Amino acid sequence: MTLPELKIGNLTAKYPIIQGGMGIGISLHRLAGTVAAQGGIGILSTAQIGFQEENFKRASVRTNLKAIKTQLDKAREIANGGILGFNVMVASFRYEDVVKATVAAGADVIISGAGLPMNLPELVGNAKTKIAPIVSSVKAAKIILRNWAKKYDRTADFVVIEGPKAGGHLGFKADQVEDAMQTMDDEVIKIIDHIKTYEEKFQTTIPVVFAGGVWDRGDIDHYLALGCAGVQMATRFIGTAECDAPDDFKDRFLKATKDDIHLTTSPVGLPGRAIDNTFTKTISAGVDAYKAQEAPKTPIIPLDPCLNCLQNKLCDRKTIPYCISQALLNSVEHRTEMGLIFSGTNGYRINEITTVKAVFDDLTA
Ligand SMILES: Cc1cc2nc3c(=O)[nH]c(=O)nc-3n(C[C@H](O)[C@H](O)[C@H](O)COP(=O)(O)O)c2cc1C
Repeated sequence: MTLPELKIGNLTAKYPIIQGGMGIGISLHRLAGTVAAQGGIGILSTAQIGFQEENFKRASVRTNLKAIKTQLDKAREIANGGILGFNVMVASFRYEDVVKATVAAGADVIISGAGLPMNLPELVGNAKTKIAPIVSSVKAAKIILRNWAKKYDRTADFVVIEGPKAGGHLGFKADQVEDAMQTMDDEVIKIIDHIKTYEEKFQTTIPVVFAGGVWDRGDIDHYLALGCAGVQMATRFIGTAECDAPDDFKDRFLKATKDDIHLTTSPVGLPGRAIDNTFTKTISAGVDAYKAQEAPKTPIIPLDPCLNCLQNKLCDRKTIPYCISQALLNSVEHRTEMGLIFSGTNGYRINEITTVKAVFDDLTA
């Protein structure tokens, strides 16, 4: 069977493969542009997207907002007319401004999770940009779609379901993850069923894309058979020459075994999946000790300078054990051992650095 195209309104991707947004600095213009050129959908992560710019440490917010357009323009030069967009986390500092900047830059799509993107339709307005919430349960899908229909009389252009095998922050509590591994397929079917009611109500098609643990063609066929229109894949693209991360970041994947990938705690309040290193060991040993400290506490990773990554209400500087931005930056600025290296459950399957084209050839043959 040949893979079907992925149609999102008037956009058509040759292959039903979205490359998941990976912050900080893992999916920028080079990876996203190359994926789009190969016929997938390339997604840049807006998380500290301007971290390589000169003024970043002094003016992170302004620099990031500016870098959204610079990075998208560079990706377009590579993409050969392919589809490009952004992943914007709801938990981001000045989420509204970040979304508006991606729309102004000319994003084809926005995928938004790490929170419920309740006001995303309002922020995008009548722009051509297609929008997708990321959900991990039928409950979240219900809340978002009901709210969008009621408040904005519109629905999602597509929906990304993220399961428990994904990398980065998960939409499950740590003690729900194991159960979710067993029940996710049923949940996917329930979500697709629920979305059908909105397809009827709005007389439209809402493609559903599954993310988390998708590695090979067998996985893609599995989710298409469940009723999905496509998949979102992230970890596999880390093992490509075009992935924007530095070589020492990719090396950690080459060396990792299955037993090196675990859930870790994050200041965002969600579990995150990452490769074990000095940092994760320090965190798991250090968080309890940190909590037991008298104020003023000494964070495990310094909080200064504050790079304004999270909404203020999500980052209490008096109680947060480490700075998530500094930890993620460590991993892409050659302080890899003290960096947070997000990975899906399949991270250990990266055994060589290949090319995006080779990955697409393998998936689409
Ligand atoms: C290194 C890394 C960074 C990620 N960063 C983000 C992010 O900034 N925002 C987000 O919504 N998801 C993020 N994710 C999740 C991916 O977009 C994707 O949905 C998920 O990892 C898919 O599972 P897979 O990696 O098994 O293919 C990240 C994943 C990884 C591996």
